[in-house]
Amino acid sequence: MADRPRVFVARRLPDEGLAVVRAACDMDLWDGDLPPPRDELLRRVAGVDGALTLLTDKVDDEFLDAAGPQLRVVSNYAVGFDNVDVAACARRGVKVGNTPGVLTDTTADLAFALLMAAARRVPEGDRFVRDGKWKTWGPLLLLGPDVHGATIGIVGFGRIGQAVARRAQGFGMEIVYHDLEPLPASVSEPLGATYLRLEELLPRADFVTLHVNLSPVTRHLINEKTLALMKPTAVLVNTSRGPVVDQVALASALRDGVIWAAALDVTDPEPIPMDDPLVGMGNCLIVPHIASASRATRGKMAEMAAANLIAGVRGEPLPTEVPPPA
Ligand code: DGY
Repeated sequence: MADRPRVFVARRLPDEGLAVVRAACDMDLWDGDLPPPRDELLRRVAGVDGALTLLTDKVDDEFLDAAGPQLRVVSNYAVGFDNVDVAACARRGVKVGNTPGVLTDTTADLAFALLMAAARRVPEGDRFVRDGKWKTWGPLLLLGPDVHGATIGIVGFGRIGQAVARRAQGFGMEIVYHDLEPLPASVSEPLGATYLRLEELLPRADFVTLHVNLSPVTRHLINEKTLALMKPTAVLVNTSRGPVVDQVALASALRDGVIWAAALDVTDPEPIPMDDPLVGMGNCLIVPHIASASRATRGKMAEMAAANLIAGVRGEPLPTEVPPPA
């Protein structure tokens, strides 16, 4: 490795991170608004000691071959790392970093905003006004369910799921959750959260919010069968990863009244094609994967990703390393 390690940074990041990387490394920055095309990415990582990637960059054997055996670290600018083949990295001694913790509350804020907006039909109301349709106050205009006092079903009760539960407590909601197994009472009791199996949670919840990692187990966790278990009045919120929901099944469920509404921060694929049926549905709110998009949080994520990258190229322990698979 040269004195100044060579690194590739796959997109312009907040300065909190970029300035640190620039000071410590010989940095090649992809400065485009869109992700680097695959061939460009593979060309630019050749010979680098570290790569700072985004969830839009696939890190697999092809990427690692293109980079070469000197690669020491892949620092992913996200808490999720389903775009990184962590096992392939581990086989080659490449460490993987992510950005857990700093985006927990910001993501939970957006999950709750989506829940509220879908329930109280905020985007529909806004369109209604701008389309010149607001003629008078109406007793039956844009009715939706109450959020306060309703039952929220939190699927995936890690850091973000628990942060959503804290918000739900403020709205006097009944909180039920599902995870691989019940969490210790020291975690669930202060949140007033009750563990249920997924088949028990879905028929019980007025709002179902997803906070699982994407894995072979969670891919299409919400599908035709599980949607059918939900209440016809239910609202589904997804701020996890798009493929956790079978979108074809969701579109049918929303069209046929199997569930009442959905609010998605993530889709499969991203961006969602404009001819996807969900795009034309008034009862499906979609935003462009912005759950962590507060200025402060994106800055902290940049600091963390930079710290992982620099530690990795120096051969030091990463501050937040994704553990290699057992
Ligand atoms: C993540 O970090 O995994 C989010 O999806 C983007 O912040």
